[in-house]
Amino acid sequence: MTSQPSGIPPRQRPRSLSGMQPTSDSLHIGNYVGALVNWVELQDSYDAFYFIADLHALTVPTDPEVLRRRTRVTAAQFIAGGVDPERSAVFCQSHLPQHAELGWVMNCLTAMGEAERMTQFKDKVAKGQSANVGLFTYPMLMAADILGYDADRVPVGEDQRQHLEITRDLAQRFNQRYGETLVVPEAHILKETAKIMELSDPGSKMSGTNSPDAGVVLLSDDPKRIVKKIKSAVTDAEREIRYDPEHKPGVSNLLVIESALTGVPVDSLEQGYAGRGYGDLKTQVADAVVSAVEPFQRRMRELLDDPAELDRILAAGAAKAGPISAATLARVKDRLGLLPPG
Ligand code: TRP
Repeated sequence: MTSQPSGIPPRQRPRSLSGMQPTSDSLHIGNYVGALVNWVELQDSYDAFYFIADLHALTVPTDPEVLRRRTRVTAAQFIAGGVDPERSAVFCQSHLPQHAELGWVMNCLTAMGEAERMTQFKDKVAKGQSANVGLFTYPMLMAADILGYDADRVPVGEDQRQHLEITRDLAQRFNQRYGETLVVPEAHILKETAKIMELSDPGSKMSGTNSPDAGVVLLSDDPKRIVKKIKSAVTDAEREIRYDPEHKPGVSNLLVIESALTGVPVDSLEQGYAGRGYGDLKTQVADAVVSAVEPFQRRMRELLDDPAELDRILAAGAAKAGPISAATLARVKDRLGLLPPG
């Protein structure tokens, strides 16, 4: 790797890293085809770090029992979706104190105005979410998550672009002030075509926290429920099955879902649907979703039925990831002029 700063230890392979917040009772197919599939792919050529961003989840007050449950579900779903804990480090952010500690350093490197310009924060406040200071400093904790692992590549959705930009700015600023210390990561913004919209309102992005139940296919939904949701998906008054997100957002969304799950390109699907109606489309999409979800759910249930095993996997993930972020933090502290302990 040519871009590696001279001040950091050499690595065998480039690193990918990403996280998700445990803020819903199940991931949905949008998370699966939009993010998880990419995470899984990156495992082949990167040393991968995938974590449950439970500290970020505290920015919205949550019942402790609910948080515990959602954290385990999220971990189980990463693995059921193909993240391989033998190859990748799968862990909880809160198990490694270096995230919060490096987050503090990032806070002290960030100008007030810079944090105040973060659009996700501004949007949430504008929508009336009562913000705490943690929500305000959320991007700096996220920067710490990434920079602690010298991550080269960070696969995230479009909504995280600005957070990646501030992460890069902070890494560059640190390197400028204190000497080459941190890897400046590349954002890997996941393709727009993998963006899945709500079934009931194809103008809005499918969201585990904001979408109505009928609009979201959860990975934990019973297959019968999945079929029902897809059959009720909003389409349009025409009959033609064609990919045209602007004029036919509902039909296009169904085509994208089928394509993502079967690997058949959208234009081949369109050809196959020539002369057929929306009923056929919905049946075929429902079949594709159910066949993807059934093996996923089997594996998820196995993992959730054995919480001790799941906790062991998370402990092993933390044991793999911990020394790496601990080393980065030690490097950072030394550069800052903090005395070594003892
Ligand atoms: N903010 C991300 C989201 O809500 C989750 C996240 C936290 C993350 N830390 C990260 C993603 C570090 C990538 C890298 O989707």
